[in-house]
Amino acid sequence: MKQRNFMDWPEQSVVVIRTTLVYMAKKINSIWYRYKMDIWRDIYNIVLNDQKPKDNIPLTSTITAYLLRKAMGKNPGYKKEAGILDKFLSPIFNDEQIQAAYKGFHIFSPDVSDELLNRYEAIKKELDDTKPDLLIVGACGLSPLGLAYAMENPDKQVVDTDLSEIVVTRQIPTFPKPSNHQISRLDLLDEEAIKEFGQRIREAASATGLESLAIVIEGLTFYLDDEQRERLNKNLQTLVKKIKPENPEATFIFDYFTWWQPSRDRDIKSNSDHSLWKIFQNLTKNITSGQKCFMKDIEEVKEYLATQNFINIRHSRYSAKGNAHNVYVCEYRSKKNERCIQQPEILTS
Ligand SMILES: C[S@@+](CC[C@H](N)C(=O)[O-])C[C@H]1O[C@@H](n2cnc3c(N)ncnc32)[C@H](O)[C@@H]1O
Repeated sequence: MKQRNFMDWPEQSVVVIRTTLVYMAKKINSIWYRYKMDIWRDIYNIVLNDQKPKDNIPLTSTITAYLLRKAMGKNPGYKKEAGILDKFLSPIFNDEQIQAAYKGFHIFSPDVSDELLNRYEAIKKELDDTKPDLLIVGACGLSPLGLAYAMENPDKQVVDTDLSEIVVTRQIPTFPKPSNHQISRLDLLDEEAIKEFGQRIREAASATGLESLAIVIEGLTFYLDDEQRERLNKNLQTLVKKIKPENPEATFIFDYFTWWQPSRDRDIKSNSDHSLWKIFQNLTKNITSGQKCFMKDIEEVKEYLATQNFINIRHSRYSAKGNAHNVYVCEYRSKKNERCIQQPEILTS
């Protein structure tokens, strides 16, 4: 048997202390994690208890999700997202009308699917570069973006938001949601709703010590007229001030539709002899009747965003050349937050 040496004791004590510290750190971490998750779970509970499921969800979200799912099916890098979309779309995946609509897009407007995938990819890569602690996705529709970000970044928080019917549609009971992902109803054009949502997020964010904030709005600006877009931008800036009153700054990722991009020229391949042409025409009429914002080109979008108090505006380098659905990244910093530049004192003798 090994004789205990006087010199062994300090070494053993170090091991015991280290093991205890590691154990305590893990324990504190798990208590902190549970506390964090409980706080964020409230975001979900408070919002949904007054909702009733609706039968229909906006056509634009369904078609966008369907076209995106088809493009992702060809790309093995998007297995996770394809799985999420399969869950959301399962009730309507074999719907004859939706299938006919998809076939119509495939035949008469074949680039749209890949354009939507590129738009998604550009936003996802921008988020991977920015890695915000808190991501808010506005008008999320059936997009898998927020869930995918939450799954890939378990130490970050994500709140997906949309109008009521979408929020309810996304509550699939069997769907395993990551605990750092919440969903909330939010009308982005309603200032009061924005303030109330901002207050709730602020409480959770400050209690859980989240610093950087990013807000993504994908597939919405296209459907808003000038006045509505102005309201959207103002509301989003109010949201930042509500969530982070001490440090009101955030990164924004928007997509805008620019009509002169080359892809528009080859967009619709009309063929009135085709049996699906009428169905496709009706569908696109439904979708395009809601479209109100047609920017000319990338420069025009950047100039527009500059008039809306955004700064450091850039067109995403991940947006494919010629994609009409292109992505922009910009920042917002409240004027209050701008550092006061001190004038040097003039010394008089
Ligand atoms: C074309 S879909 C895009 C969905 C999703 N972002 C995507 O890219 O797949 C437009 C979405 O905007 C939502 N939406 C429309 N008006 C809104 C508003 N005032 N506030 C919040 N969401 C809105 C719709 O419910 C719909 O889900």
